[in-house]
Amino acid sequence: MEKMWAGRFEKSIDKQADDFNSSIRFDCRLYRQDIEGSLAHAAMLRAQRILTEEEWLSITEGLCEILEDLRSGKLEFDMNAEDIHMFVEGELTKRIGENGKKLHRSRNDQVALDMKLYLREECGEIQRLTAKLIEAILQQAEAGREMIMPGYTHLQRAQPVTFGHHLLSYAMMFLRDIGRMKDWKVRMNYSPLGCCALAGTTYNTDRDMVAKTLHFDGIAMNSIDGVSDRDFCVELLSALSVLMMHLSRFSEELILWSSWEFKFIELDDGYTTGSSIMPQKKNPDMAELVRGKTGRVYGDLMAMLTTLKGLPLAYNKDMQEDKETVFDAVDTVKACLGVFAPMISTMKPLPLNMYRAAGKGYINATDLADYLVRGGLPFRTAYKIVGKTVAHCIKAEKTLEELSLEEYKKIYDGFDGGLYEAISLENCVKKRISAGGTGPESVKAQLAYVREKLGELIREKDFY
Ligand code: ARG
Repeated sequence: MEKMWAGRFEKSIDKQADDFNSSIRFDCRLYRQDIEGSLAHAAMLRAQRILTEEEWLSITEGLCEILEDLRSGKLEFDMNAEDIHMFVEGELTKRIGENGKKLHRSRNDQVALDMKLYLREECGEIQRLTAKLIEAILQQAEAGREMIMPGYTHLQRAQPVTFGHHLLSYAMMFLRDIGRMKDWKVRMNYSPLGCCALAGTTYNTDRDMVAKTLHFDGIAMNSIDGVSDRDFCVELLSALSVLMMHLSRFSEELILWSSWEFKFIELDDGYTTGSSIMPQKKNPDMAELVRGKTGRVYGDLMAMLTTLKGLPLAYNKDMQEDKETVFDAVDTVKACLGVFAPMISTMKPLPLNMYRAAGKGYINATDLADYLVRGGLPFRTAYKIVGKTVAHCIKAEKTLEELSLEEYKKIYDGFDGGLYEAISLENCVKKRISAGGTGPESVKAQLAYVREKLGELIREKDFY
C-alpha cells in the first residue's frame, strides 16, 4: 500500500521497519474515538465554510459507514496500515474518493485527542467498577459490624477491632481512588484538536466548537503543549498505581486471612483454585494475581515516565509508546476490579476464629492501663504496671482475663474486680466510640459516611 507521505521519498520503506513502525495492532482499539474526532472536526470545517455542504455530507456519511462496518465486523482492520488514523482516512478515501482527502487532519493532535477521549471513557468505567467494589465492602462491613478480631500493628496483635471497621478502611481508600480519578479529569479535559502538527493552522478554525462537541471544558491553550502533553497518561497511570496498591494490600490480607494460620475468612470456591498435587489445597489465586499485577501497573507508570523524560518538544515517535503501557494498565485494573468485587461479596467471614485470635496476644492491655488511669494513675505509670502484668502472664501462660484478682493485687494492689469488665473484648470495642473508631456506633457512622459519599459521587454528572 502506498504511504500517505510517499511523495517525498524515492523508495519505499523496508518491510521490517514498516512493521516496527506500525501501531495499528494496538491503536485499532481507538477507532471509535478517532472517527468521533473526525466527525466533530468535519462539522467545524463546514461551519467555518472550509468544507462545502456536499464535501461535509460525504465525509460524514463515509465516516459513519466506516464506524458501523468496524463495529459490526464487516470491515476488518488492515494490519498493513501504519496506524488507526491512516487506516480510517485511507478507507474513507477508498469509499468517497477525493472528498476523503479534505479532512485536513494532523495525526499529532489527532492521536492526543483519541487518547483523551478513550481514557475519559475508560476512567469512567474504572470508577464504576471501583464503586461496585465499595458496595461489596459495605455489605460485608455492615454484616461484620460486631465481629471482633485482632487489629494489628507490625503484624503483631495490637488492639481488638471489628471486622466491619477493618473492612471500611478499604472503602475509604477506594473512595479516595475515585476522587483521584475525578481530579484527573479536571486537568486533562482540554481539547488538543486544532493544535495541528504543532504550530496551529492558517485556516480559520473554531477550536472551541470542536471542544464543546466533544464535551471538553476548553481547549489546550498552547498548540506545542497540546500535541506534546502526555501528563494525562502519567497522571492516570499514577492514580491507577495507587488504586492497585490498595487492591494489593487488601489481597495480601485476604491471603493471610484465608490461611490456616488465621482462618478469619473463607473465600468462595468460585474465586479460588485447587492444587494439581495436594488434594487439601484451596488457593487464593485471584488475590495473589491482583497483588502480582500491581507490579505490572507500576511498571506501566515507570515506562511512561521514562519514555517522556528526554523528549524535546513537540511530537516524537517515542510517544507512540504511550498506548501499550496505558492500555495494559487500563485492561489490568479493569480485570482486577472485575474479580475483586464479587470475591469480596461472596467471601465468608469466620467470626469465631477472629474472636479466638483476639483472645490471645494481650490485645486488651491498653484497656487495662486505661482502667488504671481512670483510677487516678498517670498513663505512663499504668503502662508500666500493665507491662509487668503481661510479662507475668506470659510466664504463667495465662491471658489477662485468666489471672486472679489475688495475682493482680500482688503486682499492684490498686487493682480491683472492675478490671475484668474493663478488659472484656466486647467492652474494649464498644467503648471506642471516638469518631472513626472501632466501636459499633462509630462504625455505623462510617458506614453512613461511605454510603453518602458514594451516593454523591455516583449522582455527579459524568460519573460513568
Ligand atoms: N501512531 C502515532 C502515535 O501513536 C500517531 C501519530 C503519528 N504522528 C507522526 N507525526 N508520525 O503516536
